[in-house]
Amino acid sequence: MSEPMIKTEIQGRVGLVTLNRAKVLNALSNELIDEVAQAMRDFDANDDIGAIVLTGSEKAFAAGADIAAMKDWSYADVYKQDYLGHNWESLRRIRKPVIAAVSGFALGGGCELAMQCDFIIAGENAKFGQPEIKLGIIPGYGGTQRLPRAMGKAKAMDMILTARMIGAQEAEQAGLVARVVPTEKVLEEAMAAAAVIASMPLPAVMMAKESINRAYESPLNEGLLFERRNFHALFSTHDQKEGMNAFVEKREAKFRHE
Ligand code: HXC
Repeated sequence: MSEPMIKTEIQGRVGLVTLNRAKVLNALSNELIDEVAQAMRDFDANDDIGAIVLTGSEKAFAAGADIAAMKDWSYADVYKQDYLGHNWESLRRIRKPVIAAVSGFALGGGCELAMQCDFIIAGENAKFGQPEIKLGIIPGYGGTQRLPRAMGKAKAMDMILTARMIGAQEAEQAGLVARVVPTEKVLEEAMAAAAVIASMPLPAVMMAKESINRAYESPLNEGLLFERRNFHALFSTHDQKEGMNAFVEKREAKFRHE
């Protein structure tokens, strides 16, 4: 059996997935994404996990799809295997929050993988870019769709057409990144944020994520209705009763995540 391309661990109620192909700056392949998707599905199904963190190494979150592996492929090759398609789609179906802890390069598919997560915490050394144009291709896992939604058309066009990399500060100002922290603190900060999320009532967390994602996929009136129905539904949960009673009784809430 070949070496696993990721490492996983559980800390409290947080599941951590670490990309582990440091020699090639965590270059992505179907196999690597299969492993990531499997690990995330396992965490998603585990009642003792409330949030997930995805990270890489200090030098690279991921430097994109594996260029050496794909350079000679034909159209039929990439089409038939739905290259970086089918298994990446399963990442979209993870229902618990996923935070990307990004240090170093997040390029091409690496930037897209980070954007696929629910939010990004970046180290000061992070560099985001979509350099596919230099290889004669375009982003293939959402870059042309998620980048303009995150940063607006002008910045997305600039990055995708010129292949310009941007640093963590620019990415934060543009809205791509939620927080920038000292590089050596990225994982710690992301794990702490995930622990906070994992301490919150899980049904509310999952419905909040689902409702925010609707903002990208439906007209405003549909999104507002979706949010309101989820809001109403939460009144059927234990944690809503516990959270509100604890507030009124001025005590700490004891959530059961149900
Ligand atoms: C395969 C890669 C790689 C990649 C780096 N490596 N990126 N191998 N695919 N995407 C390998 C290098 O070949 C090298 O291997 C080792 O990792 C270290 O990289 P260096 O280039 O020596 O490091 P450095 O000089 O510091 O430059 C870092 C870098 C550069 C700026 C990140 O590696 C780079 O430009 N990488 C390619 C980035 C890119 O074009 N990404 C988009 C890919 S297309 P050796 O064996 O020489 O030590 C894509 C499409 C996605 O992502 C669409 C669908 C999802």
